[in-house]
Amino acid sequence: MAKAKVFVTRIIPEAGLAKVRQGCDAEIWPDPLPPPREILVRRLPECEGILATLNDRLDAELLATGSKLRVISNFAVGFNNIDIEAATRMGIPVGNTPEVLTDATADMAFCLMIAAARRVREGHETIAARKWKTWEPMGHIGQDLCGRTLGVVGMGRIGAALASRCHGGWGMRVIYHDIHRNEAAERDLGARQVDFNTLLAESDFVSVHTVLNEQSRGLFNASAFKKMKPTAVFVNTARGPIHVQRDLAEALRTGEIFAAGLDVTDPEPLVPDDPIFALPNAVITPHIASATTSSRNAMAEIAADNLLAGLSGEPLRCYVNPKAEANRRR
Ligand code: GLV
Repeated sequence: MAKAKVFVTRIIPEAGLAKVRQGCDAEIWPDPLPPPREILVRRLPECEGILATLNDRLDAELLATGSKLRVISNFAVGFNNIDIEAATRMGIPVGNTPEVLTDATADMAFCLMIAAARRVREGHETIAARKWKTWEPMGHIGQDLCGRTLGVVGMGRIGAALASRCHGGWGMRVIYHDIHRNEAAERDLGARQVDFNTLLAESDFVSVHTVLNEQSRGLFNASAFKKMKPTAVFVNTARGPIHVQRDLAEALRTGEIFAAGLDVTDPEPLVPDDPIFALPNAVITPHIASATTSSRNAMAEIAADNLLAGLSGEPLRCYVNPKAEANRRR
């Protein structure tokens, strides 16, 4: 029997790619940059499956061209790049790669917290520019973590993993804002659910772990930054558009907040003249929170399993839209 035709939009770890090659007639986009939209428009009508990344915007218009499409496997835990409602309506199952990147992402959020609080970027740049002359009793003063308050926005798996590190290792008090209660975090970490304004006012560190949707888009805007402490550190490892890039740069420039650690920005990459580049109190990394060998290998395996399950008509290993079963394409 002929193998199903699939399009893989980037080279992913061999742990997943080998399974995809073995089980499918796969075209693998070889470039380091994602395929332009024209390529997706051309490939989608021919494919029964697509293994995509968070860079590929699979909106309703594009999905409508995929008349043979029987599965979308996203190589990411987030899936805001896909119109899930449209996929569900069309009976197309969508898979993602949760859990295996929880620790790596929580580690990255913690890394950005401490790097921003202790002015690591500024110190490195001072030395690299050969400007550092001697140990300074009054220079490079940062913020402590021990005993301070962590405010988590989105107390799911990753938010709770960060809270556990901060509470267990650094004795931090944990508050969180989420539409759902996290009883385990309340019981094990003494976390307290609060409204958004309370979180802004009480937190020494605010870390974002919520999904990007119409409620969270632009949540951290000028008005939110004004409600934070001038000593506060803002961390975003979730999705860039949850903060308003211009407002964040302004809050950092004026000292409304102390520093920021960002693994995600809006847009990605930032435009070359983004004002944040001139600010020493922003530490920015290129969306690498899940970039460890074990996380990326495990993500690749799940993404391949989701793709193959989708093609064989089975439930996906990590199923974003199980409601698609009701009218699933076979
Ligand atoms: C990364 O941002 C992911 O969603 O996996």
